[in-house]
Amino acid sequence: GGVITIDPGFKNTGSCTSKITFLDGEKGILRHRGYAIEELTKKASFLEVAFLIIFGELPTKSEFKKFEDDIKSHSLINEEMKNIIDGFPKVAHPMGMLSSLTSALTAFNSNTVDINSKEEMYQAIVKILAKFPVLASWAHRRNDGLPLNYADNSLDYISNLMQLLFRIPTEEYKINPIAVKALDELLILHEDHEQNCSTSTVRIVGSSEAGLFASISAGVSALWGRLHGGANQAVLEMLEQIRKDGGDVEKFINKAKDKNDPFRLMGFGHRVYKNFDPRARIIKNAADELFQDLNLNDPILEIAKHLEEVALKDPYFAERKLYPNVDFYSGIIYRALGVPVEMFTVMFAIGRLPGWIAQWKEMRENKEPIGRPRQLYIGETLRPFKSFEER
Ligand code: CMC
Repeated sequence: GGVITIDPGFKNTGSCTSKITFLDGEKGILRHRGYAIEELTKKASFLEVAFLIIFGELPTKSEFKKFEDDIKSHSLINEEMKNIIDGFPKVAHPMGMLSSLTSALTAFNSNTVDINSKEEMYQAIVKILAKFPVLASWAHRRNDGLPLNYADNSLDYISNLMQLLFRIPTEEYKINPIAVKALDELLILHEDHEQNCSTSTVRIVGSSEAGLFASISAGVSALWGRLHGGANQAVLEMLEQIRKDGGDVEKFINKAKDKNDPFRLMGFGHRVYKNFDPRARIIKNAADELFQDLNLNDPILEIAKHLEEVALKDPYFAERKLYPNVDFYSGIIYRALGVPVEMFTVMFAIGRLPGWIAQWKEMRENKEPIGRPRQLYIGETLRPFKSFEER
């Protein structure tokens, strides 16, 4: 074969061409299908942006209505899926449950998709968009001992997500528009981020022609790790630890700088953004607004701001171009909305779902070849076999 270049972590390797998301890490620019993230978060809804990301254009009113209705029509989950949930111990992490349940969907729905059939492609897309938030809410409700909940088709996508997570059957459920708006904006910020770890996973699994649900399930697993989506849970645990420790942010910053200590400032740094993460800026403002609107006070928010301020003044972080990323403030918003910390990465997954779908669709429509990187073998050369007696 030809010359093989080794690029650990694919830091300088492009895996595809794409028309979905433009990202400039130096300038801190993020656009979907040519629309600026700052504008999308202010002017569109989560599901509208999902349509844009997946199909390439903003929907007309009637296209949007059909899309929303089609999703609603698929929101039921096969009752047998509950047997799977019942099999999990109460301490199961919701990300593990979500990945398993998403994979289990393949037992009740066709997993293969004929990419030459627009209709089959569309059906798979609306099905996963409909069922994924229900399964995510089940992972949470199972651990909280709440009865499993179903979609309320009178509600929009994000309001429905709120009731899926939080509705208690014996109480009247009131949607809080401030909370819905904050969650909508936060999840828009997570919708796509080009070829990150989980998205590359979805594309590579899908490239073997494994179906959409199987590919998404793999994406959930990839997102789980603390260097990726799992960072949002890790950030809040870190901030809690700082608070319990008396709020000494310098101590934790010094720990993060110490090369003999594996500790890193969670929610800081990014593979691509080397100036600022535009999503972090929007989230920080959103957190401030939400706390004002709901008249909330959280010492954790003050600790986060103080930590950011001190870290940004420190040459260690400046030299390495380490700034707060999307995960730094998101957990503070989830917490204000009543989302338990072990559900934070699940929320990220719900937000990222449209991106995974769009990237999978693009990969299949481009008829990309199966993903199969090469390697440089550096192990033993040919050796004669030794019997047990000779070893
Ligand atoms: N705290 C302390 N030092 C850091 C941090 C941090 N959070 N991040 C990077 N560094 C240092 C790192 O030790 C290295 O230093 P040196 O050059 O002296 O060896 C230098 O900065 C470059 O780091 P890297 O690990 O080579 O950079 P990377 O592009 O491979 O990693 C990252 C990017 C996001 C994995 C990393 O910055 C990190 O671990 N951050 C903390 C976890 C986190 O917040 N992840 C969420 C990422 S954004 C959303 C998402 O993907 O889900």
